Amino acid sequence: MDRGSVSASADTVERAEEATIESDIYEGNGMNIAIVGAGKIGGALTRHLTAAGHHVRIANRRGPQTLAELAAETGAVPSTLAEVAEDAQVVIVSVTMDAIAELRMAGLVLPDDAVVVDTNNYAPVIRDRRFEELDNGVIESRWAERQLAHPVVKVFNTIPVADLRSGGVPAGTPGRIALPIAGDSPAAKATMIDLIDQIGFDAVDAGGLDDSWRQQSGTPVFAVALDAEGVRKGLTEAHPAQTKAWRAHWVEVASA
Ligand SMILES: NC(=O)c1ccc[n+]([C@@H]2O[C@H](COP(=O)([O-])OP(=O)(O)OC[C@H]3O[C@@H](n4cnc5c(N)ncnc54)[C@H](OP(=O)(O)O)[C@@H]3O)[C@@H](O)[C@H]2O)c1
Repeated sequence: MDRGSVSASADTVERAEEATIESDIYEGNGMNIAIVGAGKIGGALTRHLTAAGHHVRIANRRGPQTLAELAAETGAVPSTLAEVAEDAQVVIVSVTMDAIAELRMAGLVLPDDAVVVDTNNYAPVIRDRRFEELDNGVIESRWAERQLAHPVVKVFNTIPVADLRSGGVPAGTPGRIALPIAGDSPAAKATMIDLIDQIGFDAVDAGGLDDSWRQQSGTPVFAVALDAEGVRKGLTEAHPAQTKAWRAHWVEVASA
């Protein structure tokens, strides 16, 4: 399938010029990347990864016709869920947690050898419907990989969207924001660590996927911009009770 770019109209070019993402930090090498979910996080990653020179396809729930503006701005190619991951070397899944359970039924096909990224956080009641397994403490990304029937790497779930949009800086800049990354495949993590560096961030290896609870919601590394040292410290201070408390707080807020 043609991964050619979509031409930009004058107003979308203007908006692109206003965008906070700085193109001088990029050194792209043209991978095929699929982004499933083109909301706040998926949209920011679309902007970064196209600017870094990658061939990006995007899909959402409402269909490719609703992605024309993001496509015109970035050159990403709107797609259906059924086609978005075709030939992709990396597939980034950035939807609400309950949508993960529906993606395969809705037509998403993941190439066996693709690196699949889980950016997601479980936010019961306030946003997501409840899943008993998650409520009982199953690690979110283990649950996600079962829904997707594909191993995943967990990353991008901790960074606030504003920092993802505009916090990227060249490697070596003091205080560069770092992202914890967990997964069972060293090769998959290495691919993502390289991409993360290309878009302006450091990465800290947070271990295998069974260790990924240390970067779930409510933990010290969650929803905060930390440098690599801060992420390492935060990971050691994580406790499962922090995620439980975070969820309970938002359930209470939603139920009030
Ligand atoms: N916002 C943050 O600061 C932040 C930071 C880190 C991680 N995260 C996590 O990253 C994930 C995405 O967050 P977000 O803030 O980007 O969410 P968002 O702005 O609400 O975007 C969600 C995207 O998922 C798509 N989607 C929903 N159901 C789908 C389905 N069944 N099939 C295909 N696409 C579907 C939506 O498509 P439509 O637009 O067509 O409905 C939308 O493009 C969440 O799990 C969140 O917890 C968020």
